[in-house]
Amino acid sequence: MTVNTIGVIGAGQMGSGIAQVFAMAGFKVIMQDVKDEFVAKGLSVIKNSLAKFLEKQKISQEIHNAALANIKTTLNLKDMADCDIIIEAAPEDINLKLEVFKKLDEAVKKDAILATNTSSISIAKIAGVTRRPDKVIGMHFMNPVPVMQCVEIIRSSKTSEATYDCVKELVKKLGKTAVTASDSPGFIMNRILIPMINEAISALHENVATAEDIDTGCKLSFNWPMGPLALADLIGLDTCLAIQRVLYKEFKDEKYKPCAMLEECVNKGWLGRKTKRGFYLY
Ligand SMILES: NC(=O)c1ccc[n+]([C@@H]2O[C@H](COP(=O)([O-])OP(=O)(O)OC[C@H]3O[C@@H](n4cnc5c(N)ncnc54)[C@H](O)[C@@H]3O)[C@@H](O)[C@H]2O)c1
Repeated sequence: MTVNTIGVIGAGQMGSGIAQVFAMAGFKVIMQDVKDEFVAKGLSVIKNSLAKFLEKQKISQEIHNAALANIKTTLNLKDMADCDIIIEAAPEDINLKLEVFKKLDEAVKKDAILATNTSSISIAKIAGVTRRPDKVIGMHFMNPVPVMQCVEIIRSSKTSEATYDCVKELVKKLGKTAVTASDSPGFIMNRILIPMINEAISALHENVATAEDIDTGCKLSFNWPMGPLALADLIGLDTCLAIQRVLYKEFKDEKYKPCAMLEECVNKGWLGRKTKRGFYLY
């Protein structure tokens, strides 16, 4: 299958990053969100990121200009009708994702692949609301997308070999490395990462140490580029909580119970960098 045009649902931190890397690799991209202001914000994040890449001489002026020219935006799913693959990066909420996939299935051509950037939700459940479960797959990019090298590909029992091969080839064309996971809650990356973040929050909650000491300790002891609490702020505490809840619900194991402090932060609207307050102030 030849892929020329990519649709991206959601112009938030992941959607805008996914749109950017495909546009930089020469693909035509249509990025969709529900309000003009969200689309405009996504586009401005892409422009800033491309300008930084140019300044650091990581891309040429030609690629910079071509990438910008490759991206179109819309509020209407119907504009994705001719896309060859659509990658959904709407919030980590199963009902929202099911709704989006139902509509997408009707709006786009029959042979298009429908991918989801979900962090934890079952690909089979998402595929179940479409008439093309063989063409539904998980394509889990890491944050920030233009920088991180890994893409986790998740196949459900219904995902076809052709769909898998096509997505694997696309990851290669982006210059990234694919790892493959089965359709288990949290897949590989978030099965490991989010409980670790939840544990760091529990340590803070139980006054084991300050946020700064937890993060500094992890950075210097484990050689990590950032500590777990700063990373939680980057991911978004709402997203961390949503993933932890999926792990808890699906594995039915107390060890995955979300920390009360994480719940409190989200209830207060402290979602991390995107609201300028999480475990740190921004
Ligand atoms: N944040 C991370 O570090 C990270 C990493 C990997 C995967 N993910 C996953 O990527 C997805 C998006 O996360 P994010 O961090 O970009 O969230 P975000 O909140 O930054 O962006 C989500 C965007 O989706 C838009 N949206 C809401 N409803 C929509 C709809 N019905 N149709 C189209 N757009 C809609 C919102 O307006 C927003 O712009 C989630 O599934 C998340 O689990 C996040």
